[in-house]
Amino acid sequence: MTATPQANLTGRVAIVTGAGSGIGRATARTLAQAGAFVLGVGRRKDALEETAAGHSGIAVHPADLRAQGGPEEVVTVATDRWGHLDVLVNNAGVTKVMPLADTTTKAITTLFDLNVIAPSQLAQAALPHLRRTRGSIINISSTYGHRPLPGAAHYAASKAALEQLTRSWALELATDGIRVNALAPGPTESEALAAAGLSEPTINQIKQDEAARIPLGRRGKPDEIAAWVLHLADPATTWLTGQVLTIDGGLELS
Ligand SMILES: NC(=O)c1ccc[n+]([C@@H]2O[C@H](COP(=O)([O-])OP(=O)(O)OC[C@H]3O[C@@H](n4cnc5c(N)ncnc54)[C@H](OP(=O)(O)O)[C@@H]3O)[C@@H](O)[C@H]2O)c1
Repeated sequence: MTATPQANLTGRVAIVTGAGSGIGRATARTLAQAGAFVLGVGRRKDALEETAAGHSGIAVHPADLRAQGGPEEVVTVATDRWGHLDVLVNNAGVTKVMPLADTTTKAITTLFDLNVIAPSQLAQAALPHLRRTRGSIINISSTYGHRPLPGAAHYAASKAALEQLTRSWALELATDGIRVNALAPGPTESEALAAAGLSEPTINQIKQDEAARIPLGRRGKPDEIAAWVLHLADPATTWLTGQVLTIDGGLELS
């Protein structure tokens, strides 16, 4: 599947968190190309503006989703601007190499604040609006949301939490006509490894090792994930909810 938009999201409103790089940037652009108005959220204004450049449907909202009231403000900005909300893409997330021996409560809290608490606060704030539009929530998990990850157990645990939120919200919100699904990407080109504080040689080694383990022989591209976000957001995708779709070049089978 390519990122060429097949779906028609004309006039739909979407929030995409973490839109300044990687999967979030590709998602914001793909949804906008399909006709949606997109609020791109992240901390770096310049990165968000680069995402929006040449895409008139993308507006940017620099914000720290860990900040008190940050997630609620994001929803207000989108609905004040466009009057309604159809799609929430909980994409912003951070990875953390943290063996148990080195684990600290502060580091766990920092990880869960962004990967679990912020998506929950965003979903809650979006709920009245999604009820009105019978909209959809798409959570970006990871293949490690349902596989063990020695040395980064709390990252895996945070994504496992997101997958269980996905399934539980799908049932809870089904009577409102709100669909809730998740994507679980495998290793994908982005700023994630650098954002985790790893050195360049370590990053290069990880990338090589990952590519060698992936049956399709390479890491993924952000557009290849964004294409599936578009598919899940498509109002024509009417009967799919509570699913976690793994997109990983076959890694999970190996
Ligand atoms: N790449 C992979 O291999 C992979 C695999 C599986 C799952 N994922 C998941 O995919 C999602 C996107 O990651 P990515 O790979 O595209 O990595 P990325 O390029 O590092 O993107 C993460 C985005 O989140 C934003 N962000 C970080 N902290 C934030 C905060 N406190 N408030 C608001 N925004 C914040 C960052 O922008 P600012 O720094 O400007 O805030 C950044 O644009 C994540 O949930 C990640 O766990 C990635």
